[in-house]
Amino acid sequence: MSKLPTRLRRNPILRELVQETQLSINDLVQPIFVTYSDKKTEILSMPGQYHVPLNIVEKEIEQLVNSGINAIILFGIPEKKDEVGLDTINDNGIIQRAVRRIKQYFPDLLIITDVCFCQYTSHGHCGILDERGLINRKKSLEYLQKQVVSHAQAGADVVAPSCMIDEMVKYIREALDNNEYEDIGILSYAVKYASTFYGPFRDAAYSTPKHGDRQSYQLYPGNIQEALKEAKIDENEGADIIMVKPALPYLDVIHQVKSIVQCPVAAYQVSGEYAMIKAASEKGWIDEGKCILETLTGIKRAGANFIITYFAMNA
Ligand code: PBG
Repeated sequence: MSKLPTRLRRNPILRELVQETQLSINDLVQPIFVTYSDKKTEILSMPGQYHVPLNIVEKEIEQLVNSGINAIILFGIPEKKDEVGLDTINDNGIIQRAVRRIKQYFPDLLIITDVCFCQYTSHGHCGILDERGLINRKKSLEYLQKQVVSHAQAGADVVAPSCMIDEMVKYIREALDNNEYEDIGILSYAVKYASTFYGPFRDAAYSTPKHGDRQSYQLYPGNIQEALKEAKIDENEGADIIMVKPALPYLDVIHQVKSIVQCPVAAYQVSGEYAMIKAASEKGWIDEGKCILETLTGIKRAGANFIITYFAMNA
């Protein structure tokens, strides 16, 4: 008996029948950057991605919906920043307005809101700081609770805390439940590495920290035990979905997280991953379309149930 694996690869129909990982448009979530600027402008470090003005955000969403995308994650760029990021808890904050406006036009679109402080604070850190310049956990959790209730009030379907503050999921669940938002889900950025791949996003969101870096709250790239611990803790605190971020350098992490949690696992193909593929394809060094599908399929194969990616619209 000769074991010839290529027997299954000769016929395209047969190839499809035995294909182990299927990628579908329903697996993809598109990030959107909403601003107060008066015209749509391309983000330099992320060709093909835009700062979308709030007052015409529905036009952008219409294109998305027409291309078959039915879920987005929203990032807001506020007009003013301050020490505590007041815009995050303001009923007329950029995210709150954007959610209300989008829901008016597209009530069925699933809206996830990114929940953090770094775009909204003058210091650019993911929480509120104490006198020493470190994250004040208790105070940050207090503001985090106000922020998620405000997002839920505006009409968000799912909130996605990305600030890596210990017990954030516990406090968020409690705030939502106490305010009759039991049905609002939590997508936790449970496993978020301190990554260089966020560079283009920070240019886009003007969220680079003014002092220091994020190593005191985000994970060291070489650690996986710690990642699994984070995932377990967040699941136990009530996260509905656990996210790993970035995606491509952390496929082993996605795989292992998937095997230890019962809830779905998401992966975030971040701005730097996007920019790399874009840059190489602009130079003609790789085939962009095929490369996008290959990376997304790989991320799914590793165990992600769905993927947040700037390629959602293209893919
Ligand atoms: C906010 C946040 C960041 C990203 C998502 N949410 C930036 C960061 O942690 O510095 C990065 C997304 C990307 O790079 O595409 N904390």
